[in-house]
Amino acid sequence: MMKINPRDLNRRDSHELFMSAILPRPIAFVSTVGEDGVLNLAAFSCFTVVGLNPAQVCFYIGLKRDGGKKDTLINIEFSRDFVVNIVDEPLAKAMNQASAEYPSDVDEFKEVGLTPVKSELVRAPRVAESPVNMECTLKEILESGAAASGGHIIMGEVVLVHVKDELWAGDQIDVSKLKPIGRLGGDLYCRITDIFEMERPYIL
Ligand SMILES: Cc1cc2nc3c(=O)[nH]c(=O)nc-3n(C[C@H](O)[C@H](O)[C@H](O)COP(=O)(O)O)c2cc1C
Repeated sequence: MMKINPRDLNRRDSHELFMSAILPRPIAFVSTVGEDGVLNLAAFSCFTVVGLNPAQVCFYIGLKRDGGKKDTLINIEFSRDFVVNIVDEPLAKAMNQASAEYPSDVDEFKEVGLTPVKSELVRAPRVAESPVNMECTLKEILESGAAASGGHIIMGEVVLVHVKDELWAGDQIDVSKLKPIGRLGGDLYCRITDIFEMERPYIL
């Protein structure tokens, strides 16, 4: 077995190791609004749910290559809210396009051809084309690591979830209709096309 001390790795090698070991990762397509009213979109696959009552999600925003903050972080620091939009197969291309480093004054909804819809409880808009939107308020920003290879962990409370009617299966979302995409290492993605079931063993 190879043994790797992550502290010996540079930023790129650390990224490649963890992104190819922890997978498939769900994608939070995060919409935010800045102080100047400019709308922003960006994808984050270091993302998960970390609480149910209250419902909480978190995601990790690395610093830019030049050590500066990404627009998503700057906007969340300002508005203290954001929306997580789930990415299905039809949204994949626009999501990838939005992950280009656009200047802060560019409206990324316009740039990638998506429709902003006013949220009900937060200032950040949601993405009309996304099948599931989660309106979130900021709980906490945790600083992670030193500048250049560091970043921030955003903890948010989900205050309202929007689900397209046709995906709802009584008490949950029908994954075969949702068709979410997952992120693998490098530039690879996956579809959910091979599902199996295992009953949980209960010991009486
Ligand atoms: C599928 C995908 C997943 C990504 N995951 C992350 C992530 O977890 N953390 C991160 O900092 N950047 C991630 N990125 C890169 C950001 O989306 C990218 O830096 C984006 O330009 C940030 O935009 P902003 O400056 O508008 O916030 C990811 C990109 C893609 C396409």
